[in-house]
Amino acid sequence: MEACPAPLTRCSFGALPEAEPGLEELHISGWFYRLSPQVVLCTRRQPAATEALAQIIHVRRGEAFPPGHPTTRLSLDLLREALAAASVHRLLDVGCGAGLLSLAAAALKVSRVVGVDISPAAVHITRENARNNALAGALQVVQGSTECLKGPFDLVIANLPWEVQMDKVSELNRLAASKGRLILSGFRDNQENLLIQSYQKLGWSLRRRLIKEFRHPELPPDISFTWVAWWLEHKTI
Ligand SMILES: C[S@@+](CC[C@H](N)C(=O)[O-])C[C@H]1O[C@@H](n2cnc3c(N)ncnc32)[C@H](O)[C@@H]1O
Repeated sequence: MEACPAPLTRCSFGALPEAEPGLEELHISGWFYRLSPQVVLCTRRQPAATEALAQIIHVRRGEAFPPGHPTTRLSLDLLREALAAASVHRLLDVGCGAGLLSLAAAALKVSRVVGVDISPAAVHITRENARNNALAGALQVVQGSTECLKGPFDLVIANLPWEVQMDKVSELNRLAASKGRLILSGFRDNQENLLIQSYQKLGWSLRRRLIKEFRHPELPPDISFTWVAWWLEHKTI
């Protein structure tokens, strides 16, 4: 697939905070996610002894969006559930960042994974992470926007800021196969209504909803909020 220029404006991933408290610590201690009894995703170079029996997918951030964000973890939780519920042959990861969700899907034996990102740095590090973890055979990484892609995909996963999600409704609807599924995250509970209405108009409904509260002791309670992730299915299923 050819790279195509990204028409998109930069959007913040939620309006605050610049460096989300907790992420820095995660990078120091190393982010860790158990995908299955045999496979873990990890940002540490030296896995702990308890992980010795597992396949370690080592994820480097490079210049891309840092692995370890709560919405990435919510997306991974839903990805595991969706893959356990039905087989997926073609998966699209929109806004792949450092490639975590794509790598997870490939490690969980999805045979054809496409990651797309408008950021050259994200594409570069996702390719490098795929090569370093011997997953490049299952993973194609495209620089550009979704308009470059043909589809359909059995499962489309998109962890994107709300503004981008709103822009992408018709595109993600186009790219999901008629019996496809969508996993969406990157937005907050007070942003859900408009987005779900847009999908409902196209025949999608909510199968699962996961949340993660964001609170920090040094921030006033009124700026606490809730991250959300959805698994949507089309009414034709
Ligand atoms: C919140 S990060 C998610 C990264 C990764 N999927 C994860 O969960 O850790 C969002 C990513 O979407 C990319 N992005 C933003 N708008 C996009 C668009 N229109 N098309 C493709 N990628 C986009 C950004 O460059 C960024 O890497």
